[in-house]
Amino acid sequence: MSLFTANPSPAVTAILEDPAFPRLKVLVIDTTGMEFYRDKDADLARILAERMDEIGVADCGGYLHLLQDPAQGKAEMDALIAELTIGETYFFRHKEQFDALRELILPEVIERNKMVRRLRIWSAGCATGPEPYSVAIMLEREFGERIAGWHVTVLGTDINQKFLTRAREGRYDEWAFRTMSDSLRAACFERVGNQWQIRSEFKRHVSFQYHNLIKSPFPSLADNIAGFDIIICRNVIIYFSQPTVEALVPCFRETLNDGGWLIMGHAEPNQRLFSSFRTVNTPGAVLYQRVDRPQEPPGPVAMPPQAPFSAPKAPPLPVGRGGLPAPAPVTSRRSMLLSKPARPKSAPVPSPSPAVVPADPSQPGYRLKVARDLADSGQWEKAAAACDAIIAAVPLDAWAHFYRAMVHEQLGEDDQCEKALRRAIYLDRRLVLPHYHLGLFLARKEDVAGAVRSFRNAQALLTGLADEHPVDPGEKITVGQMREAVAMHLKLVGGA
Ligand SMILES: C[S@@+](CC[C@H](N)C(=O)[O-])C[C@H]1O[C@@H](n2cnc3c(N)ncnc32)[C@H](O)[C@@H]1O
Repeated sequence: MSLFTANPSPAVTAILEDPAFPRLKVLVIDTTGMEFYRDKDADLARILAERMDEIGVADCGGYLHLLQDPAQGKAEMDALIAELTIGETYFFRHKEQFDALRELILPEVIERNKMVRRLRIWSAGCATGPEPYSVAIMLEREFGERIAGWHVTVLGTDINQKFLTRAREGRYDEWAFRTMSDSLRAACFERVGNQWQIRSEFKRHVSFQYHNLIKSPFPSLADNIAGFDIIICRNVIIYFSQPTVEALVPCFRETLNDGGWLIMGHAEPNQRLFSSFRTVNTPGAVLYQRVDRPQEPPGPVAMPPQAPFSAPKAPPLPVGRGGLPAPAPVTSRRSMLLSKPARPKSAPVPSPSPAVVPADPSQPGYRLKVARDLADSGQWEKAAAACDAIIAAVPLDAWAHFYRAMVHEQLGEDDQCEKALRRAIYLDRRLVLPHYHLGLFLARKEDVAGAVRSFRNAQALLTGLADEHPVDPGEKITVGQMREAVAMHLKLVGGA
């Protein structure tokens, strides 16, 4: 299939004959995973020609140079990605999968989570938002009473910033409702000119954030991508290569809670790839469930609440002045970032272990890894207990406070989340993630000045660091990824 059929223009022909075109193509595919363009040179060249014409770059070498420029490359890559990606989507797309959500998955997950009163759903590759909003509409209208007062998250992520901006607005043309009844649309949307605006009650649990399935490691609590009950990733991996998809599947699995469900596009169920899941067939849909423990057959099943985590007893600590444990020695950020992580070229990044983890379970670094792994796998109560045990033993451990903040956030405990973030920053101002997450928190609370300040602090800490290093010691997110995320959020809050 070609997106364009007309004869190539002279500009497109020049790009196709440019010796730097193959390198540009490799960079595009490596960055987006869109293997789709491997045999579509004319389509890719057409998009490149438009971008290059718009910004006045003469040839592929110059454009490649611009894309790799540390200062301007990211913005141009975003602009290019906005043209490359295909955002075809509509409300309640593929009815049979939404039937399965209504009849099987949501009742099962809600029953299982009734003790913790929490529900986390991720729409990966959400485009302009109809997929996460359809889920939110179903939840609100059909399960509203059962989940009243619950901490519900429906997260939409995408690589295309323009799509995300439109998703946040939540305003759609008629075409997005092609399979939705007029009465349901009227109940959930308000007419604004010739468009439809989603009503606020269907927006309140939905949030959107940038995430590149190929380059942003997951699961990652620090990136808010962890511990989901349901992941929906439809019509996204069809553009990726087989090895890329094979590397993504375990990442999805790890990002689900035990018993969590993965819904892929109905046209892409290569079931062999999902053999680590339990496959469940419903009329017109194939679903995958992560099952770590033997379970009852699907259906409304009551699961016993998980046993509370008992943290190991803390060993005696080195004592500092005034009886407080001695603070960690101050190391320069550069010396903390010495080890260069090995990164695959164009495959999603699995969850590596933190860079430096003491093998001795009595060491705080080891216990922190345990806490972080628990959090990354969505075991919030256990992660909270693990962090609390570290904090009780080492009150000045900035990381333990940071992870505790992340867990507070997932549990909907806003005040404690903010306090713990500020404590982490107070204890170690050089850590980037606490500043970044405080920025996100304050942006959500519409404290624009505070958010801008926090994002700028994070930005300042990243200055001069090499892109490929972990953002903070032992973290999966790299400096480059964090730089992009901070720049994007600064732009969103109007501080760029
Ligand atoms: C065809 S849309 C699917 C939208 C929605 N899931 C649905 O099925 O209606 C594919 C989406 O995947 C996104 N996408 C492509 N590559 C991606 C990547 N590497 N990481 C995250 N999203 C990506 C595109 O930007 C686009 O919005």
